[in-house]
Amino acid sequence: MAKRDRFLNVALPKGRLGEKVYAMFASAGFPCPALLENSRKLIFENPGAGIRYFWVKPSDVAIYVERGAADVGVAGKDILLEYEPEIYELLDLDVGHCRMAVAAPKGFRDDTRRPLRVATKFRHITERYYASLGREIDIIHLNGSIEIAPILGLSDVIVDIVETGTTLRENDLEVVETIVPISARLIANRSSFKFKTEEMEKLQKGLAAALRQL
Ligand code: PRP
Repeated sequence: MAKRDRFLNVALPKGRLGEKVYAMFASAGFPCPALLENSRKLIFENPGAGIRYFWVKPSDVAIYVERGAADVGVAGKDILLEYEPEIYELLDLDVGHCRMAVAAPKGFRDDTRRPLRVATKFRHITERYYASLGREIDIIHLNGSIEIAPILGLSDVIVDIVETGTTLRENDLEVVETIVPISARLIANRSSFKFKTEEMEKLQKGLAAALRQL
């Protein structure tokens, strides 16, 4: 159950994407200039605008929103597809573009006589994708630097985020297949969406207008 106070509580992903997204929220009528001060603080509020922002790890945004510690937040579609949190997805913010892809060493050819060894952080997305192809796999769950796995022979391929493609190129890997395009989404806690209707509508309309100006 979301905290019912007079603030709209927003979980922003820490980092460059979060700063871009904050600029959109500010132009939508929810400014909080203190947020851009160089400080180690993680919570900022502007009572005048009725807004409170938290900086959280990008992959944790959906947890804050699902459990009502934040009313709204901005999360990558990759996280929403992987964890399927019980939230409302309100708007595609058209930022943070990348894709979820299968990548492999150059010249890789799948040997369909045995299970394909796939290294990934995204177990659920990977399982669903290969199940849809009817391909048997052996998942190797890693937490980062996934690109190393096929180089060291730990896996045949990887399923990971590709943004500029630099990490793949510099490790002699290439995209074999794109699974799904990814971008940042505005998400809302389900009960906040019912109880903070006015603020939610103002935010959604303001962000949609900010998007049209981009
Ligand atoms: C992500 C992803 C790739 C890289 C892709 O890693 O896992 O490694 O970015 O970006 P590029 O196509 O622009 O090179 P992240 O920085 O999140 O670190 P990680 O190794 O912990 O996954």
